[in-house]
Amino acid sequence: MAKITASVYTSHVPAIGAAIDLGKTAEPYWAPLFKGYEFSKEWFRQHQPDVIFLVYNDHATAFSLELIPTFAIGTAAEYQPADEGWGPRPVPVVKGHPELASHIAQSVIQEDFDLTIVNKMDVDHGLTVPLSLVCGTPPQDHFEWPCAVIPFAVNVVQYPVPSGRRCFQLGQAIRRAIESYDEPLNVQIWGTGGMSHQLQGPRAGLINQAWDNAFLDQLIADPAGLAQKPHIEYVREAGSEGIELVMWLIARGAMSDVAGSGKPPKVAHRFYHVPASNTAVGHLILENP
Ligand code: DHB
Ligand code: FE
Repeated sequence: MAKITASVYTSHVPAIGAAIDLGKTAEPYWAPLFKGYEFSKEWFRQHQPDVIFLVYNDHATAFSLELIPTFAIGTAAEYQPADEGWGPRPVPVVKGHPELASHIAQSVIQEDFDLTIVNKMDVDHGLTVPLSLVCGTPPQDHFEWPCAVIPFAVNVVQYPVPSGRRCFQLGQAIRRAIESYDEPLNVQIWGTGGMSHQLQGPRAGLINQAWDNAFLDQLIADPAGLAQKPHIEYVREAGSEGIELVMWLIARGAMSDVAGSGKPPKVAHRFYHVPASNTAVGHLILENP
């Protein structure tokens, strides 16, 4: 049986990827941000999974106004890093896990969640920046990510977006799907994006540290309650792009306490930093007991 051992949550600001790729991580602006991920890289080396189920959002890169899947699961063998206007990031090709991804699609769709199945897609900063932050930069003589990755794209760009409640329920269905897979795989589920930020309009630059930290508190201690938060509150309090945070509820819904294990997850790491570009960066690692 495959098992979810931990969930990881992190922002995905594209400028973080550029700072890594251009060798700027030690600069005064960036150093405090990357210091918050030192623990995570060491933790990841010690808790390396077979597969990361990576919940993220595409930013009009693979999808566009022509095609807007609410939930899309990648069942391909590999995914190329996308060209977002400056050439693709110099990171490895992302290797998928078609067998587990297809099993999850089968199970979750039969539980009445409508997923779009994607067999070809490039992955943008929403997926590659979290990988760089937590897995580090792969060595040139072994240029690959340390494990397989199943990309799971959520529409948080074009209204209507899914509710936190729907995301939380989907996370529970994903856990059941993973636990019904025959092979004994160690799986982590990552929820990415956020925290507060707004990139356009009169409120561009909005950050809400008090709201973000209350979100982290409640994500840890009361995810079912947090899942009731209406989407308008994300937008009002955390900015138009703060709605990316509903994706964290997919990962949180897949943890064992939500399924009634009776044991809360262990908070292995918590980090918060303002600013990175226009965004408040939040990061959590939760381990299933
Ligand atoms: C920024 C943050 C994002 O989440 C994103 O997708 C693009 C840009 C930013 O803060 O610059
Ligand atoms: Fe984003």
